[in-house]
Amino acid sequence: MSQTIVKIGMGSCGIAAGARPVEAKLRTLLEGHPEIEIRKVGCIGLCFQEPLVEVEMDGKSTMYGHVTEESVEDIVKEHVLGGKRLDQALVLDSDGSGMENPRMDKQVRIVLRNCGIIDPEKIDEYIEREGYDALKKVVSSMTSEQVYTEVLDSGLRGRGGAGFPTGLKWKFANLSKGDEKYVVCNADEGDPGAFMDRSVLEGDPHAIIEGMAICGYAIGANHGIIYCRAEYPLAIKNLNIAIEQAKERGFLGDDIMGSGFSFDLKIKEGAGAFVCGEETALIASIEGKRGMPRPRPPFPAQSGVFGKPTNINNVETYANVAWIIRNGSKEFSKYGIGKSRGTKVFALAGKIAKGGLVEVPMGMPIREVIYDIGGGIPDGKEFKAVQMGGPSGGCIPKELLDTPVDYESINATGAIMGSGGMVVMDEGTCMIDVARFFLSFVQNESCGKCPFCRIGTKRMLEILDRITKGEGKESDIDLLLELCHQIKDGSLCGLGQTAPNPVLTTIKYFKDEYMAHIVDHRCPATVCPSLIHYVIDPEKCIGCTKCAKNCPVDAISGEIKKPHVIDDTICIRCGKCKVSCPVGAISVE
Ligand SMILES: Cc1cc2nc3c(=O)[nH]c(=O)nc-3n(C[C@H](O)[C@H](O)[C@H](O)COP(=O)(O)O)c2cc1C
Ligand code: SF4
Ligand code: SF4
Ligand code: SF4
Repeated sequence: MSQTIVKIGMGSCGIAAGARPVEAKLRTLLEGHPEIEIRKVGCIGLCFQEPLVEVEMDGKSTMYGHVTEESVEDIVKEHVLGGKRLDQALVLDSDGSGMENPRMDKQVRIVLRNCGIIDPEKIDEYIEREGYDALKKVVSSMTSEQVYTEVLDSGLRGRGGAGFPTGLKWKFANLSKGDEKYVVCNADEGDPGAFMDRSVLEGDPHAIIEGMAICGYAIGANHGIIYCRAEYPLAIKNLNIAIEQAKERGFLGDDIMGSGFSFDLKIKEGAGAFVCGEETALIASIEGKRGMPRPRPPFPAQSGVFGKPTNINNVETYANVAWIIRNGSKEFSKYGIGKSRGTKVFALAGKIAKGGLVEVPMGMPIREVIYDIGGGIPDGKEFKAVQMGGPSGGCIPKELLDTPVDYESINATGAIMGSGGMVVMDEGTCMIDVARFFLSFVQNESCGKCPFCRIGTKRMLEILDRITKGEGKESDIDLLLELCHQIKDGSLCGLGQTAPNPVLTTIKYFKDEYMAHIVDHRCPATVCPSLIHYVIDPEKCIGCTKCAKNCPVDAISGEIKKPHVIDDTICIRCGKCKVSCPVGAISVE
């Protein structure tokens, strides 16, 4: 009989959902059973089902969702010790009967191959799943040129946003002359709504280490630096453990596996400024300077960290590398369409039934990602738009739901693939408010070097503020468009050059909504506080007084068991009354 293993999802999402007390309970319940292994794993991507507990027994695996301290008792008693699978909250099952099996079957897991499966703190579990085989192959039987050519042939493009061919970048860094070279992993991940990189760093840190070491071999670098934001403490902890273990086993350090190739790796913690994700700002930050972009050329491949040739790639980019070397470029490029090969990890967030991480072959239509994998829009609401690419991206409307997720098709909509954040919006979202949110983000995060970015985004934000207050003018749209083009043209780095994208796409696809705010002084999604009113329907109101008790500014009056009224001049549009009304008598107009 094979050993029984009980896995518990302990990524940040699992911990936030309450995995720690569940783990503690699990350990107490299994105290007298040393034959049963409890394994802490990263996130498998089903964040909306956390905490997750999986039982592996007799060659079968069963995963349960929304596990609590109470329900874990049943799982242990009935399943782990009793051998009888429970039917409630069955998320995944190796026989295919779990409620999320169809969702997982649609995915292709290259980057996420080990996430949620192995214990990220145990190198042996990574090795068991062919970990470090690719590095072994590279240092023992391939030349540097063969390595970057294999990566080039695979069609892998940078997953950090711009989509530059990774193999080509490696080739440039290889050909660049320098006594010392650097390999940098960009783990800054600053886009609102993005958490792909964090999950991979937390759940499979050795995949990044292996990818970076292979890159080091390909370009002739002996030093690696992972630039990770300090707000990712679990990722940093797991990376540190993994680096130590890799050193102990001879996968990092001097003379790796007796090949003569040496590669060391360090972590640099960033303070979490969005602009530090821009590669020249990131280099400055690594050097201990203020994280501000500088003009290119010289490109990092010629002059990067401490003026040495440097290759910078994103977390997800490196996570693909070992798989490509092991399985070959042809196998990788089998997935995808056009010039976008392989898979892409997306972080589904916002108004989506099944938020979490998914990895799909490039080219899958957005509709399939959102509806078939993400479960569609909750509460029977209508889909309105999906924001892709974060502050540098844009909003893709309903009419374009069948757009395939590949670099060129997404760019054609005015959004960008970006790093993979997909924020889904329903009919209750005001698109001007969305544009304002992203613009205020970049305005806050601008490093201030270029006047167009520093002052231009501020002026745009003022105009959007005016529009959401019902004080906009028809000429504001042209003014916004003019500013968009000037900021794009006049900014030094990608932050400013792409900052107008959320505004441009909302004007392109949702101009009616701008006009409703400007001409009719109306917010069709009933979101903008200055343009909405809370009203009580006297026919429905039963006079329970709950709304009055919950109103923070005493704007509601009325006698018990009699219809209540709201004084619109006092109301601050907080919405607390609407939520507290038991009979749905309060509406927003
Ligand atoms: C403002 C700004 C922020 C960025 N943030 C990130 C980031 O958090 N992570 C990342 O990998 N790339 C980020 N990038 C892109 C990087 O500058 C760079 O292109 C990327 O790390 C290269 O890796 P890749 O070729 O693997 O995509 C950012 C770019 C800009 C302009
Ligand atoms: S575009 Fe903005 S963030 Fe980039 S260098 Fe200029 S001011 Fe700084
Ligand atoms: S929206 Fe807020 S402030 Fe206005 S009446 Fe309701 S509870 Fe009071
Ligand atoms: S909570 Fe609803 S039913 Fe109760 S008094 Fe207010 S509006 Fe009327």
